[in-house]
Amino acid sequence: MSQTVDVLILGAGAAGLMCAIEAGKRGRSVLVIDHARRPAEKIRISGGGRCNFTNIHCSPVNFLSANPRFAVSALKRYTPADFLKLVESHRIAWHEKTLGQLFCDDRSQAIIDLLLGEAERARVRFSLATAVSDISKPDDRFLVETSTGPCRATSLVIATGGPSIPKIGATGFGYDVARRFGLKVISPRPALVPLTFDEALRDRTKHLAGISVDAVVSHGKTRFREGLLFTHRGLSGPSVLQISSYWQPGDTITVNLSPDENVLDRLKVVRKEQPRQDLRTALADLLPKRLAQFVAELHGLGGRLADQSDKALAKAADAIARWIVKPVGSEGYRTAEVTLGGIDTDELSSKTMETRRVSGLYFIGEVVDVTGHLGGYNFQWAWASGHAAGQFA
Ligand code: FDA
Repeated sequence: MSQTVDVLILGAGAAGLMCAIEAGKRGRSVLVIDHARRPAEKIRISGGGRCNFTNIHCSPVNFLSANPRFAVSALKRYTPADFLKLVESHRIAWHEKTLGQLFCDDRSQAIIDLLLGEAERARVRFSLATAVSDISKPDDRFLVETSTGPCRATSLVIATGGPSIPKIGATGFGYDVARRFGLKVISPRPALVPLTFDEALRDRTKHLAGISVDAVVSHGKTRFREGLLFTHRGLSGPSVLQISSYWQPGDTITVNLSPDENVLDRLKVVRKEQPRQDLRTALADLLPKRLAQFVAELHGLGGRLADQSDKALAKAADAIARWIVKPVGSEGYRTAEVTLGGIDTDELSSKTMETRRVSGLYFIGEVVDVTGHLGGYNFQWAWASGHAAGQFA
């Protein structure tokens, strides 16, 4: 069946739904197409099922992009307080977990219901389980061929996200659309993703799987202090997911496994007070026992504290506070929470999200080269960019 609308949005995720609501509120006829059977699958599985829907400390420094200034305008015009107001108007109970991260008290379905309720009020129509086979602009309108027939639209909004978690329907479709219209795409890669060790280190650390510690993980000048988790294949936990967005193959990361202690000072005190104690025992007071054993073996540490020179203690302290690790890779799109890179922001207006070269074509959300830190920032970008485009599409 052929149809004509003002605004056609591809992707019924966070950004697409927000854009649909805003455009619908302006009286535009809006159709949202998604190939998935259900809208907003990523919202449903987000935040461990409770959706970390924003972060009250949101600022441009929490985002990575080839042009860090690009996101500023949209983020300013639609803030965490704006989304929170919407959440409260739907009487959704929420709490701040840590570091400004706001979560639903109950299931993330509440956020999906909020968006679908608002979309219904704005008379937005949906076509789910619908595949798109071709997009063109033969005249002043777009022509989109779909499995349910062709659709013509004055504005076409691409909100199909990135390829992270393909098993729930994520694709690199948006990049194909961009290339189809001759727009630049910054090479995408998985981010907020666990890092993996080579076989030798994996064998030595396998037995540590499940151990988690508070840690500072650094890459160059960038550092994050949050939990670190040993896995069967390498490292995960919030601090490692955060640093994965900065890490590139071949790079090392530096891990401080005991950020609250000056480890060297502490070892010197213990050497004075309990000279007969073994260095390994002293390390086990600072770290979980199995982890302390691993650190000692990795760096060949051990022997009575009385026999340790200052240099030997400094080596032991470095082994804990400056563990330099070279991951071989990441777990990839299979588990990555987001995708770095995407539509080059040079192609877009930061005010409207419309492409400069193709009038009426918009890109919003994760498909754009704007990627947030872990902690609610990616949804805030989806809301803000969707809101911006919704005022103009
Ligand atoms: P999103 O991916 O949400 O939506 C894209 C839509 O397009 C999907 O519905 C998809 O089916 C559809 N689509 C794709 N290809 C298509 C095609 N070819 N044709 C038609 N439709 C197509 N962020 C955060 O801030 N807080 C959090 O708690 C979490 N938690 C979290 C957990 C997990 C497991 C993941 C994977 C991710 C998160 N995130 C997150 C990140 C967050 O989910 C993500 O950044 C946003 O959902 C991006 O919103 P978009 O609307 O841009 O894409």
